[in-house]
Amino acid sequence: MKNPPQEAISQLNKLREQIAYHNERYYVYDAPELPDAEYDKLFAQLQALELRYPQLITPSSPTQRVGGAPLSAFSSVKHRVPMLSLANAFSPQEVAAFDRGVCKKLAIEQVSYAAEPKLDGLAISLFYQQGELQQAATRGDGVTGEDVTLNVRTIKSIPLALRGEGYPHTLEVRGEVFMPKKGFLKLNQQQQQRGEKPFANPRNAAAGSLRQLDAAVAASRPLAFYCYGVGYVEGALTTSHIGNLKQLQHWGLPISPEVTVVEGVDGCLAYHRDILQRRDPLPYEIDGVVYKVNDLAQQAQLGSVARAPRWAIAHKFPAQEEMTELLAIDIQVGRTGALTPVARLAPVQVGGVVVTNATLHNEEEIQRKDLRVGDQVIVRRAGDVIPEVVAPIISYRKGELPRYVMKKTCPVCHSEAVKEHGMAVWRCSGGLFCDAQRKESIKHFVSRRAMDIDGLGSKLVEQLMDEQLIKDASDLYKLTEDQLVALDRMGEKSAKNTLKGIEKSKSTQFAKFLFALGIPSVGEETAKILADYFKSLPALMAAKLSDYLVKKGVKGIGPKSAHKIADFLNDDKNRERYDLENPAAWQKIELRGVAQSTLMAVAKIFQKRGLPERVNPSDLENKNSVMIPGVGELTAKSIIAFFNQPHNREVIDKLLVAGIHWPAIEEKAVEAGPLDGQIVVITGTLSHMSRDEAKRRLQALGAKVSSSVSKKTSFVVAGSDPGSKVEKATRLGVEVKDEQMFMALLA
Ligand code: IVH
Repeated sequence: MKNPPQEAISQLNKLREQIAYHNERYYVYDAPELPDAEYDKLFAQLQALELRYPQLITPSSPTQRVGGAPLSAFSSVKHRVPMLSLANAFSPQEVAAFDRGVCKKLAIEQVSYAAEPKLDGLAISLFYQQGELQQAATRGDGVTGEDVTLNVRTIKSIPLALRGEGYPHTLEVRGEVFMPKKGFLKLNQQQQQRGEKPFANPRNAAAGSLRQLDAAVAASRPLAFYCYGVGYVEGALTTSHIGNLKQLQHWGLPISPEVTVVEGVDGCLAYHRDILQRRDPLPYEIDGVVYKVNDLAQQAQLGSVARAPRWAIAHKFPAQEEMTELLAIDIQVGRTGALTPVARLAPVQVGGVVVTNATLHNEEEIQRKDLRVGDQVIVRRAGDVIPEVVAPIISYRKGELPRYVMKKTCPVCHSEAVKEHGMAVWRCSGGLFCDAQRKESIKHFVSRRAMDIDGLGSKLVEQLMDEQLIKDASDLYKLTEDQLVALDRMGEKSAKNTLKGIEKSKSTQFAKFLFALGIPSVGEETAKILADYFKSLPALMAAKLSDYLVKKGVKGIGPKSAHKIADFLNDDKNRERYDLENPAAWQKIELRGVAQSTLMAVAKIFQKRGLPERVNPSDLENKNSVMIPGVGELTAKSIIAFFNQPHNREVIDKLLVAGIHWPAIEEKAVEAGPLDGQIVVITGTLSHMSRDEAKRRLQALGAKVSSSVSKKTSFVVAGSDPGSKVEKATRLGVEVKDEQMFMALLA
C-alpha cells in the first residue's frame, strides 16, 4: 500500500469537513447550500481518494454511512430491514452495463423491469399492524430513522387503516413523501408573506414539513405520498414487484400512475425518454426514473451490494440546478426605461442547455439573495423557464466581496435613474433622449401585436439605429430602398419586402396604434379599452383625468334629491298613478326641491333602460368617481403624462403625416333582437326562474322590461298570484301571457 502524501491527507480532511457541513445543512436544517450535483462531486472526490488510500478510511467518514443523520428531536426507529439506497446511472451506456450485469448473473437473455419515476421527496417506512398504521419513520442513515408517525398521519393520501382484506398481520410499506409543485409554490408564497425563509425546492419543503414538531403545521403542508415497495412483510404478497404494488394499491395505498413494466434495456431507455419529455407538465418533481427487476425470485437471486440492491438502478435526468461563477452584473434598459440587472455567468450546462445569462429582476432581489460578483452561485433552469440565479454559496465565498449596489444612472445615456415610491424597479429618466429606450420602443412599435411590420425585426431595428437611419418610429416611413440595400446582409429583395411591410402597416387599427406607441402601462387590453371609450386620437390626447371618470347619475342630483326621487319612484301608488313609461307623464310630477328639468333628465335615463323594480338612489346621484373599467388612475396619469410630452406629440404627428390611418370606431351597434322595441312587464311568481332571470332573458332578446303597465306595454308575463297589474292590462287591452306561453316564447 502506498503511503499517502501529506497533501492527500489534508485534502481528505477538508473534503470530510465540507461534506459534514453540507450534510448538516441538508439533513438537519432541510436547507442545502449546494446543488445536488455539486455535493455529489465532493462525495465522489472523497470516494476516489479513499479508494486510492484505503488505510485512511475511518468509520466516521461520510462515505461509511447510507444516508442522513437522525434528528435528535424525534425518537429513533430501528428498521427491521435496512432501507437501501439506489446506484445511479447518468447515461444509456451505464444503464446498458447494469442490464448486462443483471442478465449475466441471472444467465438469461432479457429481463423484465418495473419502471417508475424517481420521485424527488423523502423515503418513508409505514408500519401496518393488522391493517392499522402503527408507525411511520424516515430513512435516516438506512439503519435507524426518526419516528414521524404524528406528522405522517396528517398526510391525506396515506391510509390510517388498510382497505379490504387479506393483508398480512405485519406489513411494512415503503415509498416517497413529496410535495406537488403547485403546493410548493403556494407554500413558498406564504413563507415569504410571513417573512419566513422560502424552501429551496419541493424536496426540502417536504422534509422540513415532516420534521415539524407541531403536527398541526405538518397538516397544513400540501404533502402527498406514493409507495414503491415493501420492507418487512410476514409472508409474501405476490411474485413480482408490480404485483406487489398493485396489491398495495388494492389495500388503499397510492402508487404512481406512471409505473409500468418494460422489456430489456431498450424498454428502459424508451421509458426514460418518454418521462423526460413529460417531466415539466408532471404535477410533482422527479429527478430521474428507476428500473427494478420485476420478478421477485430474480431479485432475491441478485441480492445486494453494500447499500444498494443489485436488482435496481436510478437513471437520473440532467440536473436542473448547477453551480457556476457570477462574472458580472450588467444593466439592461427596457422600452420604458426599466433598468433590469442581468447576471453574466461562466458558461454552465443546466438541464442539457448552456446557460450564460440569467435575469436578476431588480436591485432588491439581488440584495435579498446577497449575490455578489465573484460568487459561486446556484443556477436553476426548469423546462422552458428562463434561467434563474437561486442563491450564492456563501461557504465558497473567497475573502471579502463587495455587496452589490446598483449604479443610479442609465448605462446607455447616463441620465439619472429614478424609482417610484414603493416600487422595486429603477428607471432611466432619459426618456426618448436615451438610445436604449428608443431602440426598445421602436422594436415594440414594429412587433407583431403592435404595427406588425413584416420583414422588420429587432436585429434590423438595431442596425437602422446604429447607422443613424432612424431616430424614432416615424423615420421608418421615410426609409428608401437605397438606404436599406446599403446595409450589411441586406439584399435587394429583402429591402423591397421590408418597404412593402412598412407601407402595409400604414393601414391599421386605432387600438393597435395606441399599443404600438408604447405608453407606459398601456398593454394590448388597455389599448382596446381606450380606443373603444375615446373613439378618436384627438379625444384621447386631449383627455384630462376627469375625462377618465365614467359619469354616473344625473347632473345636478346630490344625495338628498337622489333619495327623494328614488322614494317617489319606488312607491307603488305613484307607479300606478303615473304612466312612467311616458315622458309626458313625468311633467305632471311635482317634487319639492327637485327641478322639473332634473326630473325630465331622470325620465330620459329610464326611457332608455326601462324603469327597474327598485330604483337605487346611488344610481341617480351625480358622482364622477368611477374610472373607466380596466383603466386605473395610475394608468390614466401615465397616459396623460405621455401625451403631454412635446416629443411624443411630435412623433405622433409625423406618424399621421406619414399616412398611418385606421377605420373610425363607431358606437357599438346593438344587435337587433326578436323582441326589439317591445315593452314587457313581469308580475307574479314564476316557477321556472326568478323574475330577475326572466328579465335578463327578455332583455337579451331586445325587450325593455318595465314595472308598470301602460297602453304602450306590449305584453305582461303573469306568474302565479299576480297583482293588480293583470287587471290593469286587461282593462287596457294589453296581452297577458301565462308562464307556459312565456317559456314557449323564450324557447
Ligand atoms: S426504490 C431498494 N423507487 O430514491 C430500493 N426509490 O436513491 C430503494 N426514490 O431513498 C428505493 N423514487 O427516497 C425507489 N420509485 C422509487 C423512488 C425511490 C424516489 C428515492 C428514495 C430512495 C432514493 C434512493
